[in-house]
Amino acid sequence: MVRQRTPLAALETFHSHYGNAFQANLPGFSATVLSGADACRFVLSATSETLAWRHETDPIAKLLNQGMLVTDAAAHDEMRRIMTPAFHRKMLSTYSDAMTWATDITLGQWAPTDERDMLNDMRRLTLLALMKALFNIDFSQRIDPLWEPILKSLKYISPGAWLLWTNVPRPGYKKALAQIDTYLYAVIEKRRQQTEQPADLLGLLIDAELSDSLIRDQLLTMLIAGHDTCTALLAWVMLLVADHPDVQNEARATVLQTLGTAAPTIETLKTLPVLDNIVNETMRLYPPVHAGNRFAAQDLTFDGYHIPKGQRVMYSIYLTHRDPQLWPDPLQFRPQRFETKPAAFTFVPFGGGSRICIGYRFAQIEAALVLARVLQNWQLTPVAQKQHLHMGATLEPRPKALVRVTAL
Ligand code: HEM
Repeated sequence: MVRQRTPLAALETFHSHYGNAFQANLPGFSATVLSGADACRFVLSATSETLAWRHETDPIAKLLNQGMLVTDAAAHDEMRRIMTPAFHRKMLSTYSDAMTWATDITLGQWAPTDERDMLNDMRRLTLLALMKALFNIDFSQRIDPLWEPILKSLKYISPGAWLLWTNVPRPGYKKALAQIDTYLYAVIEKRRQQTEQPADLLGLLIDAELSDSLIRDQLLTMLIAGHDTCTALLAWVMLLVADHPDVQNEARATVLQTLGTAAPTIETLKTLPVLDNIVNETMRLYPPVHAGNRFAAQDLTFDGYHIPKGQRVMYSIYLTHRDPQLWPDPLQFRPQRFETKPAAFTFVPFGGGSRICIGYRFAQIEAALVLARVLQNWQLTPVAQKQHLHMGATLEPRPKALVRVTAL
């Protein structure tokens, strides 16, 4: 049982009273919160001339600087154009090798009967996979020294006191953030010395003749956006699969029938929709990114609701995914609901429109592949634990995501 301890509970109450558009006011923080299919369409079809992404005082903009995630208009579009080829379908089969490699290293640490914190294990796995796939780096030696700085950078951008007191100095983060920068600049420097660039994301950025600092901003963006989301997703997947033995047994039977002990590939995963259904249902209930943030660049109206220029606007993925008018019995974990394609803008774990998550295919393949590999080799059972939702950089189970694993 996951207890609700975040402001999401308050948003659910507001939503049930006021519907799909309301004002959430905290001291020093105010946002228009929108939810539902029409609202998601409204936000996700907008351009930065009406709804902008970047807000100078948000820590995420300070951390990522000119990273694609926090820029608008031409600056954004140029970075997206440069990096898009790294996420083309044809690249994904190379990435699946990196994902299998990272999964086998991680699962290789499990004892035949073990109790594992999936938040921890899935973070290691997703970091190893991402660094290998996008930057061609074996991160296994660097993961321990950089572990704390990475966690610290996530804390830096998580909702917290900065929402109330913007621009308050936050000296506790300086050293950790500098350690990550030193590492990233060393990676860039090493790559620049290579005469020919591998066809990976880092190679594309170097070939585009960008400055070191602009490349650093994109690397950090991918590192943060690309691993923390997948960590939360996979931790929730493992918890829910452990909690639902029927779902687990059925999925395992299908996986073993199709794959036996062979590693999953992009091609074989296509024949295993049962895995995608589990992953999608997990993201419906626990969307790693629970809301998208914008700022009204001009006065706007949504469905008669006035949004003044300068207002923070959030489209709530969480409320949309749990709306009983869109999802019958929304709190029930029922992967088979995804046997039918959801209506447009009712299921938006990756956002949508021209700024849909650039890594969405990467994430979907990684989640299905890791789940397949776990089911092939391990039985998951629940561990009694007190757990709550935590609204960090992503929506996570806290304090831990303990699961008992038993070798098959
Ligand atoms: C389960 C995993 C993931 C989830 C749930 C997720 C979710 C999202 C969402 C909701 C957005 C749009 C936010 C908005 O509209 O405000 C987004 C954008 C983005 N995501 Fe992901 N993401 C995931 C994995 C990844 C991966 C693996 C990468 C990179 C390797 C990545 C990189 C990005 C980037 C760079 C953007 C900004 C795109 C742009 O502005 O053009 N994400 N993601």
